[in-house]
Amino acid sequence: MTAEPYRPRRSVLYVPASNDKALAKIQSLACDDVVIDLEDAVAPADKPSAREKLAAIFAGRSDRRCEMVVRINALSSEWGADDLVAAARCTPDAILLPKVDTPRDILEAGDVLDDNFIPDEVKLWAMIETPKALLNIGPIAELGRDPASRLGCFVAGTNDLVKDTGILATPDRRYLVPWLMQMVLAARAGGLDLLDGVFNDFRDMDGFARECTEAAAMGFDGKSLIHPAQIEAANRAFAPTPEALAEARTVKEAFALAENTGKAVVALNGKMVERLHLAQAEKLLAKAAAVRA
Ligand code: COA
Ligand code: MG
Repeated sequence: MTAEPYRPRRSVLYVPASNDKALAKIQSLACDDVVIDLEDAVAPADKPSAREKLAAIFAGRSDRRCEMVVRINALSSEWGADDLVAAARCTPDAILLPKVDTPRDILEAGDVLDDNFIPDEVKLWAMIETPKALLNIGPIAELGRDPASRLGCFVAGTNDLVKDTGILATPDRRYLVPWLMQMVLAARAGGLDLLDGVFNDFRDMDGFARECTEAAAMGFDGKSLIHPAQIEAANRAFAPTPEALAEARTVKEAFALAENTGKAVVALNGKMVERLHLAQAEKLLAKAAAVRA
């Protein structure tokens, strides 16, 4: 299977489908993705009218540079089935499924898309936010190896995990980190992208930047955002740093030297560098190029 080209998903902003003022801003925002939310950001009384707005929201989509995703209500809820079909008809880049517990939840949503002749380009993303999802994370992630499943990305639902497990939410996320690292491992095993959860205190920019830096170090591709003020810091934190890029170029240059042709290992400034480091360096340089584009 050939890997898909890198697509930056550093900053993924939730926009409630019921908030016209926020929706009007989408065009001007520098985030990599927008998630039009029908789930927790929309009150029960507003759910049907929010769903009816989707078509109009997607009408002007060709002018937008960012990916457009729709988060539907859980398929077990009274709104989920109608949401799924309405979202699919807009051919978004992806449909984000909340409260996924098992691989079956993804497969059933995929069957609905197939039955409605929705193009394969419409992917499924899964919120990992229930204790059951964490217990089933390996088999869920495995679906990422089967393109027919459409699964493309995991999104950590940290607020729901705190609620459902009773752990204390601390600024350093000490009780969440083990589960977040399980998601990282599973996502990589399944060849999936992976987004960190939201940072609720949207006025605390220092705390937000710190959490982004940590999430990038943990291996996340980007962060879920709730407010436009969070976009810039996320774009910065999840892009390769100038230091990392300089090092990647040095590694690439070392292997390009005539004397190193065919060598598996070279010494570079007193450090061992293997071909796996070259592959890592090339991946990072490609990522930086995609971010610049
Ligand atoms: N997307 C786009 N625009 C947004 C936005 C968002 N998520 N959140 C705020 N804005 C806009 C506001 O409409 C406002 O626009 P204006 O300058 O034209 O008045 C501007 O940004 C500043 O907003 P601010 O006054 O700082 O925040 P607020 O009090 O209006 O909203 C929240 C705060 C948290 C209610 C709002 O940011 C929000 O609804 N976020 C998304 C929540 C969500 O989707 N949750 C589900 C996933 S966890
Ligand atoms: Mg949730």
